[in-house]
Amino acid sequence: MDVFTAINQRCSVRAYKATDVEEDKLKKILEAARLSPSASNRQEWKFIVVRDKETKKKLAKAAFGQSFIAEAPIVIVACGTEPKAIMGCGQPAYTVNVSIACAFMILQAYELGLGTCWMGAFKEDETKKILNVPEHVRVVAMTPLGYPNEPPSEKSRKRLNEIVCYEKYE
Ligand SMILES: Cc1cc2nc3c(=O)[nH]c(=O)nc-3n(C[C@H](O)[C@H](O)[C@H](O)COP(=O)(O)O)c2cc1C
Repeated sequence: MDVFTAINQRCSVRAYKATDVEEDKLKKILEAARLSPSASNRQEWKFIVVRDKETKKKLAKAAFGQSFIAEAPIVIVACGTEPKAIMGCGQPAYTVNVSIACAFMILQAYELGLGTCWMGAFKEDETKKILNVPEHVRVVAMTPLGYPNEPPSEKSRKRLNEIVCYEKYE
């Protein structure tokens, strides 16, 4: 599968089969995160792989009851370990860096036939307590990971001419 096909066909998955994820597939997905670029090559990230049923249920509760998280055999929780660094452009580096790694992971997962759903709606404090995340570390995103148990959803996107302009902002 080429990169554009993965970008074009991937969609968020909100229903999962109980089927386990093979270790080699999980490893490749985590490698995609490890190999992704980061500002100044800081790599200020940590990815928590959660398989424990009770922990996944707690995470679903922390995610405002989005129960499909707990259906998936794995939940990956992506953290930024050095949240103080601000880039020259004024943006915090960790949110950008961790998000790039998550994007690479979800595309790699898709190529391997696995579903994901980037999740930003969760109570960070509760999530940190559940997973023993240190005070100074921030939780940026989480995603279930598993085999989809629903048909792919239609993509709804703006047209290119609505989001691109040339030479100056229009
Ligand atoms: C930063 C971010 C946060 C998101 N948070 C959630 C979430 O908490 N729950 C959820 O079901 N989907 C969440 N999504 C998935 C989006 O709703 C989804 O990507 C968007 O509707 C486009 O659909 P697609 O992923 O199927 O192409 C999130 C996506 C992103 C990028």
